[in-house]
Amino acid sequence: MARELTQREILVELEPVAGQALDRHLSVFKDWHPHDYVPWDDGRNFAQLGGIDWDPDQSGLSEVAKAALITNLLTEDNLPSYHREIAENFSRDGAWGTWVGRWTAEENRHSVVLRDYLVVTRGVDPVALENDRMTHMTNGFAAPVDPGTAAAHAGFLYSVAYVSFQELATRISHRNTAEVCADPVADRIMQRLALDENLHMIFYRTLCGAALD
Ligand SMILES: [Fe+2]
Ligand SMILES: [Fe+2]
Repeated sequence: MARELTQREILVELEPVAGQALDRHLSVFKDWHPHDYVPWDDGRNFAQLGGIDWDPDQSGLSEVAKAALITNLLTEDNLPSYHREIAENFSRDGAWGTWVGRWTAEENRHSVVLRDYLVVTRGVDPVALENDRMTHMTNGFAAPVDPGTAAAHAGFLYSVAYVSFQELATRISHRNTAEVCADPVADRIMQRLALDENLHMIFYRTLCGAALD
């Protein structure tokens, strides 16, 4: 009977598939720039620069919309932890490494545009938001321990399955957030982010399927 492949061997065997999926991703990805999505004219200085500080009455966003935007932003902010997880599980070599870098760069745009939008439009308390970011990123994130092997890192197969669903979940979350914001500017941002998340999902789904094959 044939020996079972290790997760490392599956990862190496799937590198050509990762290369093809990366090429496909780059060919369909439509470039965009966060600054184009932020209503800068709505902004003004805070007190330290002679303006006025944040006040809850400055935003028309509902409490649900604020909670959704904060949750999505803090999730995007935790990118260093997610980068570490996928770099450790997918490696930094060859097509996998190129994907890890590209994916990280794309995800970083999501927190940039969300924070710029919230600060410029005074959607949420910027001090509370910054304090939450500090706490959230300081705590970081680590994938749960694999119950089968008790390994600290669950490995390639667990990770690729996890992110296939996680990217889909963020796509849905961004679209639902767009709906509760009831603001055309926020809607445009969240729909744009959802497009990115959808392409990420397609990459991981392709690799997950190839791994199962
Ligand atoms: Fe994202
Ligand atoms: Fe994503």
